[in-house]
Amino acid sequence: MKNQVTPWEVKGEVDYGKLIKEFGLEKIDKKLLERIKKNAGEVHFMLRRGVFFAHRDMNWLLDEYEKGNKFFLYTGCGPSGPIHLGHLQTWYFTKWLQDKFDCELWFQFTDDEKFLFKDKSYKEIQDWMYENMLDIIAVGFNPKKTHFLIDTKHAGLIYPEAIKVAKKITFSMVKSSFGFNESNNIGEIFFTSVQAVPAFLPSVLEKKEIPCLIPHAVDQDPHFRLTRDILPKLGHYRPASIQCPFLPPLTGNEGKMSSSESAKAILSTDNEKTVAAKINKYAFSGGKDTIEEHRKKGGNPDIDVSFQYLRMMLEDNDEKLAEIYRDYKSGKMLTSELKQITIEKLNFALKRHQQEREKARKQIDKFISI
Ligand code: TRP
Repeated sequence: MKNQVTPWEVKGEVDYGKLIKEFGLEKIDKKLLERIKKNAGEVHFMLRRGVFFAHRDMNWLLDEYEKGNKFFLYTGCGPSGPIHLGHLQTWYFTKWLQDKFDCELWFQFTDDEKFLFKDKSYKEIQDWMYENMLDIIAVGFNPKKTHFLIDTKHAGLIYPEAIKVAKKITFSMVKSSFGFNESNNIGEIFFTSVQAVPAFLPSVLEKKEIPCLIPHAVDQDPHFRLTRDILPKLGHYRPASIQCPFLPPLTGNEGKMSSSESAKAILSTDNEKTVAAKINKYAFSGGKDTIEEHRKKGGNPDIDVSFQYLRMMLEDNDEKLAEIYRDYKSGKMLTSELKQITIEKLNFALKRHQQEREKARKQIDKFISI
């Protein structure tokens, strides 16, 4: 199968080295990690382990930061279904950035996008948006510094800026960036200009240029490549960005975890039993067919989905992770044991998340302050 990565489709096994080249990203190297550590006081394990693996303009962003010119964070959510682990992974990291760099965070809800691209009614999208907001609040973003920006609700703020971006984008540019053709609806063709706006809206509102950092999964990069081409033409800074891969779906390392296939995803609202059942039944394993063979030859943690979840988001302790890796590879640890560790970690994280999610019902207004 041909590899394909656009914001609306991730097919096949993704080669991230190739993506770095094709998309023109920079790899996160040791020097950058040290710079981040110097400013943040620590390096998040997702950086240390190369889970967030690529960036654009992080060195410029840190130059500005070191001069006392603080940046804001921008990320977003397209509300069309339930929140799954893949979303939570990038948002955990975004929260870390907010805490360590003491940043404002602009959180865009692209309800227009999901209405335009999905076979769902406007009402369904609005209902999902409310549900998704609860999850985002539950992650623990600072309510005083986090601003929800809803495309349809805040259209009065967004639209005057979106048209300035749109005027610089031709149909042929979006055709080549996103693979569109004559049969795409005209809202889809316009949409990327809306996703560009939060990268400079705070600068417009403050009437001064403020650097922006966008943490995102790499499928969103085509939007931000266009954004970076256009913003200097409008007198704005180019946004910096930092990218992570997709969390693999339960069934293996192809494509991405997606809420439209809920049997392949762990959802933020799954209860303990469901989590255990999904991991036990579906999580692709790097184990051998029989216990005897596994004990003799060992398993392969590099392709094991449970291990990937531990590495990418659930186990922050490097030594514990290395021990699991070694034991699984040597055959000392069985697949059932590895799955049990993952289930416990997941249920621990989700229990806390679900408690916060309930409390969030009363907090939405604090996040919609503009
Ligand atoms: N288009 C994204 C999605 O479908 C949502 C989004 C909007 C976003 N702005 C963003 C994601 C900025 C990351 C960064 O989920």
